[in-house]
Amino acid sequence: MTALISLLAGLVALHTANTTMVFDAEQGKELQTVYYGARLSDAEVAMTDSYARVRTYPCYGIIGMEEAAYSAIQADGNRTVVLAIESVSQTPWEGGQLLEVLCRDTVYPMSVKICFKSFEAQDMIETWTETVNEGKKPLTLTRFDSGHLPIRVEDVWISTLYGSWANEARVNTEPLTRGWKVIKNIDGARNSQASHGEVMISLDGRPREDSGRIIGAALCWGGNYELRFQTNETDYHHFFAGILPEHDNVSLAKGQSFATPHLALTFSSDGLSGASRNFHSWGRKYRLQHGDRQRDILLNSWEGVYFDINEAGMFQMMDDIASMGGELFVMDDGWFGDKYPRNNDHTSLGDWMVDTRKLPNGVGSLVQAATERGIKFGIWIEPEMTNTVSELYEAHPDWIIKSDKRPIIQGRGGTQVVLDMSRKEVQDFAYGIVEGIMKDNPGIKYIKWDSNSIIAMDGCSNIAYWQGFAAVCDRVRASWPDLVIQDCASGGGRANWGVLPWFDEFWTSDNTDALQRIFIQWGTSYFFPAIAMACHISATPNHTVFRTTSLKYRIDVAMSGRLGMEIQPANMTAAEKDLCRKAIADYKRIRPIVQFGDIHRLVSPYDDKGYASLMYTSPERDKAVAYWWKIRNFYDEHLPRLRCSGLDPEKQYRVTELNRVDLKPLAYEGKVFSGRFLMESGLEIPLTNEVEHSQKTDWSSRVILLEAL
Ligand code: GLA
Repeated sequence: MTALISLLAGLVALHTANTTMVFDAEQGKELQTVYYGARLSDAEVAMTDSYARVRTYPCYGIIGMEEAAYSAIQADGNRTVVLAIESVSQTPWEGGQLLEVLCRDTVYPMSVKICFKSFEAQDMIETWTETVNEGKKPLTLTRFDSGHLPIRVEDVWISTLYGSWANEARVNTEPLTRGWKVIKNIDGARNSQASHGEVMISLDGRPREDSGRIIGAALCWGGNYELRFQTNETDYHHFFAGILPEHDNVSLAKGQSFATPHLALTFSSDGLSGASRNFHSWGRKYRLQHGDRQRDILLNSWEGVYFDINEAGMFQMMDDIASMGGELFVMDDGWFGDKYPRNNDHTSLGDWMVDTRKLPNGVGSLVQAATERGIKFGIWIEPEMTNTVSELYEAHPDWIIKSDKRPIIQGRGGTQVVLDMSRKEVQDFAYGIVEGIMKDNPGIKYIKWDSNSIIAMDGCSNIAYWQGFAAVCDRVRASWPDLVIQDCASGGGRANWGVLPWFDEFWTSDNTDALQRIFIQWGTSYFFPAIAMACHISATPNHTVFRTTSLKYRIDVAMSGRLGMEIQPANMTAAEKDLCRKAIADYKRIRPIVQFGDIHRLVSPYDDKGYASLMYTSPERDKAVAYWWKIRNFYDEHLPRLRCSGLDPEKQYRVTELNRVDLKPLAYEGKVFSGRFLMESGLEIPLTNEVEHSQKTDWSSRVILLEAL
């Protein structure tokens, strides 16, 4: 039932369990933001009437020359937009309320609906806008942010994620000062490799994990974007987020409409971890494909054999992962190509036929072999790409994104180019890849969908590319709703809440070095839950950074996300396989806590204390698992105490160390401690793993399970 709020509505409040957003929504005027923060009572909402108002969706052209969230050009060349509120409605939906503020330009025939959707239990509010060209002449949108949030100038700090290939999601924390801070992504296809479209904003100085007021924001969009903070002489930092409009105007013919992607906003008084918990629970329930289903433990073939795929080798890897207790085997790159066999990254993308020289009995024999071993089978594809050395490119050179008259720019392998997903025939082709594989092998349970290129040339609107991508994903999901699909883009290049509604998880990074993964996974966990973060045990020396860490350390890091393996088991010793077998069994014990629990980050690797630590607690707080990883090794350091968070102070917890390699158990193994003691005093963590002298390394780590009596 839509409750039309009084046409003369003044203050309008949108609540979640612990937060409130207040607007001034007077008919005939512009929508204005009054308050966003901790939950207010009705009486307190009325008290905000004394607060200053800030334009909620500032449009370019009139009323001050501040930064605009929105701008348009009319057919007659007029560049001003003035939006006046026509009506305000608030409608309940099963998870909260939908607040819609319908505005019309005071002169030109266009409407903009400013929307807010609250997610009551998760303390999330999504905002977006919908424009309709109600006139006969074309309307061109030149800026179309998803939202703008004014934040009072106090001691405001931001934490953003930046990186590169093999170094995704590094945390950068800095105070907001006068001027501009812009986070912009122009990669085209991999919008979380160099930077992320999410940000944490601390209102109480340098952010802390467990206390202080934090606003979190995530732009739910897979393509190019821009997040902007403007700090000027006003009392506000102005935060804007939206699609990057620089190269991408939106033209609307008569009657056409355009909706921006959603900007998800959360507020927490419980620090960064509190805001992360909101993102995780909202994501698992509303934005992640199959967010309520436990993930399988898998072996992926890539770092084990790279392009060297053959039937016997795949059987062997399946035997090994099955024998260690794994549940799924994924055949990565290298299985396809006819005229051009895919033996390296120079050829064959687009030629999605099985290379029968490598797999004489096709994929079918592999699916069958997996079934016989009691595990599932998955396969790698890269549907949006081709190589200029491929049968596909020979047949359809016009399908790629390129700038006419310019030589084409070729990426990975010197030959990789991007297909123009805005074209219907290319969308049909991409859908057809999945269709072909699934029709031939309906037993396939998992697809790794990769994307290993920037869009290096202008030649296709980035918005149109993503609309085409979305159309393909919608079709794939309609046909195979149960398929598990991993989102990969040269590692974690596509971790965003815009694409995750179609994907079950993402490959967090091609960098599987355990030490660097602690930093990468830490940043990723700001916005994305462990259930979505693929974390694999790999070989040493690590193939990317050539560091040698102990197997226990690699296991203990991978076990803090969605556990898997990325290794040639044939090269492992029996003892190493035993350790992995035990780890997989232990992971099965803690999987529901890791994948569905609440994160509490305890000691940040970025604080350089020599170690890092985080934990997950079950929703009922009757179980928890804590991780402690040494990140630096110097002799004569001080014995740290692991002070927990998120436990029930009144409950009694039994301590069990998982993945134990030490000759002697910890002093507190099997003992019982109160939640209060564990949180306020904590457990002492020996700085080294006490193993046989010949087995000692400079790495040490612990995984500790806490179970309430
Ligand atoms: C990308 C992925 C890897 C692997 C290779 C295959 O780099 O991130 O995991 O799938 O492609 O070529």
